[in-house]
Amino acid sequence: MASLDEGRSEGISPAKKRKHEGGSEDSGVPEKAGKLWGGRFTGATDPVMEKFNASIEFDKRMWKADIQGSQAYVKALEKVGLVTKDERQAIEEGLDKVAEEWNDGSFSIQAGDEDIHTANERRLKELIGSAAGKLHTGRSRNDQVVTDMRLWMRDNLSVLGNYLKQLIQVIISRAKKEIDVLMPGYTHLQRAQPIRWSQWLLSYGTALQRDMQRLREIMTRICVCPLGCGALAGNPFNVDRESIAKELGFPGISANSLDGTSGRDFVAEFLFWSSMTMITLSKWAEDLIIYSTKEFAFVQLSDAYSTGSSLMPQKKNPDSLELIRGKSGRVFGKCAGFLMTMKGLPSTYNKDLQEDKEAMFDAYDTLEGVLQVAVGVMSTLQVNKKAAHDALSPDMLATDLAYYLVRKGVPFREAHGLSGNAVHLAETKKCSMKDLTLEDLKKVSAAFDNDVASVWNYENSVEQYTSSGGTSRQSVLKQIEQLNKWLETL
Ligand code: ARG
Repeated sequence: MASLDEGRSEGISPAKKRKHEGGSEDSGVPEKAGKLWGGRFTGATDPVMEKFNASIEFDKRMWKADIQGSQAYVKALEKVGLVTKDERQAIEEGLDKVAEEWNDGSFSIQAGDEDIHTANERRLKELIGSAAGKLHTGRSRNDQVVTDMRLWMRDNLSVLGNYLKQLIQVIISRAKKEIDVLMPGYTHLQRAQPIRWSQWLLSYGTALQRDMQRLREIMTRICVCPLGCGALAGNPFNVDRESIAKELGFPGISANSLDGTSGRDFVAEFLFWSSMTMITLSKWAEDLIIYSTKEFAFVQLSDAYSTGSSLMPQKKNPDSLELIRGKSGRVFGKCAGFLMTMKGLPSTYNKDLQEDKEAMFDAYDTLEGVLQVAVGVMSTLQVNKKAAHDALSPDMLATDLAYYLVRKGVPFREAHGLSGNAVHLAETKKCSMKDLTLEDLKKVSAAFDNDVASVWNYENSVEQYTSSGGTSRQSVLKQIEQLNKWLETL
């Protein structure tokens, strides 16, 4: 297997069997046994280095993608006459057997299995013998690993997309059912204007829709096939890269071998997508944590997503939501960390890039848990219509009072000032704005009339926001309809 790229090992390294002595590699015996590239080296690999270098513990998750890639590659080798039909068949069947072992849990990782690529090929050789040595012809782990990652992402990210879709569906169905619930809308976390609870729900439905759209968009840049780029320079045996891509179900190939082997912007985009989605969910969680306090009591979390205190028997804590909020930091950390890893690397493949997989898996696993819990929380919490309504106060209708004057022909700037005067008057009279008499109001502006009484009605207030995207019933229903329509296109 002369074409193995640098760093590859197979079998048990003698260094593993020897006790490491303070970093000096001075057995004097050139190490050849156990390493396929032994001839180039005179010293053994430090056992600590061997462990440090290995990625098998995490990249074994890509076993299936690795086998798919190899099966597509061996077909391409046959087409250019580098393996015979029999060899191709033996390799394909051997790889099927390796896949079976991974599938039923019987695959046994050996010392020296540096990564998933090494492990699969080592096992293939054990199963079918020397023909296995032809599989890597013209290929490098550099084009192999990035192909594996792209395949893995393509096949797994839809799981996250499906949970996102479920979350949006729960939001839509609640928004429809609970459209009569009114609550304060906040800016600066201060009561601002009355809104429908459904309008709050749909604000997250809309943000999650964009998260979903972004996921679909990055998928187009993930689904590009780099196999056939070799270590960096390309493939010298004229393998048909287009047909490899087709075989793997990728719509196209990477255009440049240096870029194809080292480009990891698709990983960075996934990490950014994960971070952005976590930020949406973290904000959502934060709102619900606040709304679930006794002080607000707009919502009550189901027991299934709450925990108690070991000391205070009365406590019911929103741990599910706090964990979602907390994990947003973790995911962003993976994104920032990997961007730093990429920054300043020379072209092309550098071992630094091995850091991509742990970041990718961790973001994926975190999102997978977070999204499922979010669906659970969202579908089981109870909304307290009365508490949400009781939190509304007439001062929140001060803008409506200004709009009343606007409808009477007063310019808005003036109306804003006059309504402010009414707020001030209520404060000095120590009464609620709605208890100001018509006489009081007339002193503020002659434009006030008997019909001002209709301003002090929260339902009327939300119903005036009929323009698209507003909080009136009709606008909310329109938003639901649009989201539903979009969901049907997925
Ligand atoms: N385990 C390596 C990684 O994850 C595979 C590629 C190794 N390539 C090399 N030239 N050493 O990046």
